[in-house]
Amino acid sequence: MSNINIREMTEKDIDQVLEIERLSFTTPWSRDAFESEIKKNLLSKYILAEKNEQVVGYAGMWLIVDEIHITNVAVHPNKRGEGIGDKLVSKISEICRDRDMRAITLEVRKTNDVAKSLYIKHGFKEVGIRPGYYSDTNEDAIIMWKELG
Ligand SMILES: CC(C)(COP(=O)(O)OP(=O)(O)OC[C@H]1O[C@@H](n2cnc3c(N)ncnc32)[C@H](O)[C@@H]1OP(=O)(O)O)[C@@H](O)C(=O)NCCC(=O)NCCS
Repeated sequence: MSNINIREMTEKDIDQVLEIERLSFTTPWSRDAFESEIKKNLLSKYILAEKNEQVVGYAGMWLIVDEIHITNVAVHPNKRGEGIGDKLVSKISEICRDRDMRAITLEVRKTNDVAKSLYIKHGFKEVGIRPGYYSDTNEDAIIMWKELG
């Protein structure tokens, strides 16, 4: 996995990010959403994983006081199971530690066992449910937290 590079996302990456977004989510974010996050949202930070100069995954977060709120994490379907999700979540934990922030949180679909397993592996715990949070399918969200010591 040493040939995976993690770096900040820029506007130039959005085409490749959108391709992964559309392959990964039933209600994908639009180009405008990513542009606005990168250009206008002062609280946001977007990172990506690249392999041989190809974007293979990405993650977004909002840095709110001493908490990181993860907005999205996705890996290209052809590149899953290679440890890229691990690298992205490890990087988020590193950002949290480096900035002396207290905790990381996210919502995940109740049925998304793969993502839940990834987060549990990284020390997240299931702390609550938001009933019907996902309006496309009315699915519940599981709220997960990781407290940094
Ligand atoms: C969730 C996702 C980001 C994982 O990325 P990935 O690069 O395939 O994950 P990794 O290869 O780094 O695996 C890390 C951990 O995830 C979990 N995982 C990955 N693939 C899995 C699978 N097929 N079944 C169960 N758990 C799995 C495991 O805990 C794994 O750790 P392990 O290899 O030590 O068992 C990826 O599946 C994805 O993009 N899914 C669609 C988008 C999505 O659901 N995002 C999360 C929104 S909250």
